[in-house]
Amino acid sequence: MSNKFYITTPIYYVNARPHIGHAYTTIACDTIARRHRMLGDDTWFLTGTDEHGQKIERAAQAAGKTPQQFADEVSDTFRTSWDRLGLSYDDFIRTTSDRHKQGVQALWRKIRDNGYIYKGVYTGQYCVYDELYVDGVGPGAPCPDCGRPTETVHEENYYFKLSAFTDKLIQLYAERPDFITPETRRNEVMAFVRGGLRDLSISRSSFSWGIPVPDDPKHVIYVWLDALSNYITALGYGQADTSKYEKFWPGVHMIGKEIVRFHCVYWPAWLMAAGLPLPKGIVAHGWLLFEESKMSKSRGNIVRTETIVDVLGIDALRYFLLREIVFGQDGSFSFDALVQRYNADLANGLGNLASRTLTMINRYFKGEVPYPSQSGRTPADEAIAKTARSTISEFGTLFDQYQFSRALDLAWGLVAAVDKYIVENEPWSLGDKQDETSRARLATVLYTSAEALRVVTALAHPVMPDATAKIWTQLGLGGIKKFDLSSLQWGQLQLGTKLGEIQAVFPRADKSAVERMHQMEEQKEGVGTGLGSAKPPSALRARTNCCGSKSISELRFGSSWPGSPKPTNRSR
Ligand code: MSP
Repeated sequence: MSNKFYITTPIYYVNARPHIGHAYTTIACDTIARRHRMLGDDTWFLTGTDEHGQKIERAAQAAGKTPQQFADEVSDTFRTSWDRLGLSYDDFIRTTSDRHKQGVQALWRKIRDNGYIYKGVYTGQYCVYDELYVDGVGPGAPCPDCGRPTETVHEENYYFKLSAFTDKLIQLYAERPDFITPETRRNEVMAFVRGGLRDLSISRSSFSWGIPVPDDPKHVIYVWLDALSNYITALGYGQADTSKYEKFWPGVHMIGKEIVRFHCVYWPAWLMAAGLPLPKGIVAHGWLLFEESKMSKSRGNIVRTETIVDVLGIDALRYFLLREIVFGQDGSFSFDALVQRYNADLANGLGNLASRTLTMINRYFKGEVPYPSQSGRTPADEAIAKTARSTISEFGTLFDQYQFSRALDLAWGLVAAVDKYIVENEPWSLGDKQDETSRARLATVLYTSAEALRVVTALAHPVMPDATAKIWTQLGLGGIKKFDLSSLQWGQLQLGTKLGEIQAVFPRADKSAVERMHQMEEQKEGVGTGLGSAKPPSALRARTNCCGSKSISELRFGSSWPGSPKPTNRSR
């Protein structure tokens, strides 16, 4: 029986159109999903949009649209963007869909019937941008997360007995050290929860753009309870057909570090309260910081994926994001770094290895893979085989630990080793000679090179699906989709395999590529739905501005514990 694997992205707010930051998370999940599929796992990859709440209601008003019209339009831009990027999501959940509403209300009822919901009054501050209750501060105080002024809210609300879960959560983190990755985030969450949790408001009653509370439709469900539930409602939880839920839940949630608390504290507490299984793990990555020279409030700091894809292709973007940025840490994006990395690792690295190896097999062996000779072998041949074998096993381990950058570095170590091997063994000189020894040696060198190329291509396929599929075909191996990655071993390339037509996969990019991308980004001003215009929503400006300057602890684990009723209302 195959293993089941379920992975999710955060669902993206529809107040902004998709940019490279959203694409980063979605591409990382796509890569993981593709690797699992290639390993034969029964895989489900979910993404979607988060469409309720006061923030969206106001964004719609500002755009002169109904919230539903507005959500429909922006949700569509996410979907279209993911389709253009060829992202292999299996389902796209929208929180305004009936299936989701039904599931969220079912979850609410379950938590309520288990005795964890009660009515109270919230008087305090609220940050609409973060959809966050901010406790213990006065009117107008800035949000501890984003710095925007909070608004005073005085409403009758429903509360969730979060305080009842302090010990259970601490026990969870202790018993399952891999529940939160990386370790730094886990430590922050643990320290915070150890400080004690207060009950949390989970409904709003002063606006209506949300899912009605069952049996009390004056209230709408707090947007984070609504949003987090997507991970199970998309699988059919609370609906007629729960087969996917039974099959795939629990799964792995990949998120940006700024939403750790919602995922690692609230979500497991809600699931525990409902008596449902907890996620397999929550993986938080860092932020993508944008090219410094492009940081400008008036322009909004947003890089579109289309720009990069048009100039260098989707695989270049995918490779760059996973290779350049150490997963879990913040990383800078710049067009210069992108082009440098592209030329060094793809055009001169993998692309060059493919073209020189395959061209020589064409030239010297009529396009058929030669068999390595048993005689005249050198330690250099065995060294390549050994490096390839260890690359195969270590790559998987690193990948499973979300260390994409190290995994790719390792695989490109094999590319570099083969390059050196080719230079040292001079197959072009051997090719000029007709004696048997030279022919045998040439066969061994080209077989070894082609086999190493096959190994790197297979390993890199989840990261660069298009380019690797082309190299695979050029190697004469047919469709890479059919290849079972779990069977990958050194020495599987068959004697006599007829190569396909050889074409450059990564043409070298010259300086004009950077210039073109800059120009395209400048032209983006005024494009689109009003979300990508010259003066983007302040929300986006602040998101990008805050990225560079604050640590997660400053952002999400400030001294206040938002969402809690006044201490008089409920004890800790
Ligand atoms: N709607 C909530 C999430 C609800 S999940 C149940 C939300 N949406 S968001 O549109 O603000 O998207 C946040 C996510 O987008 C981040 O957690 C991250 O995955 C991704 N990113 C958005 N900007 C990013 C960067 N600049 N860098 C890296 N990731 C970024 O929060």
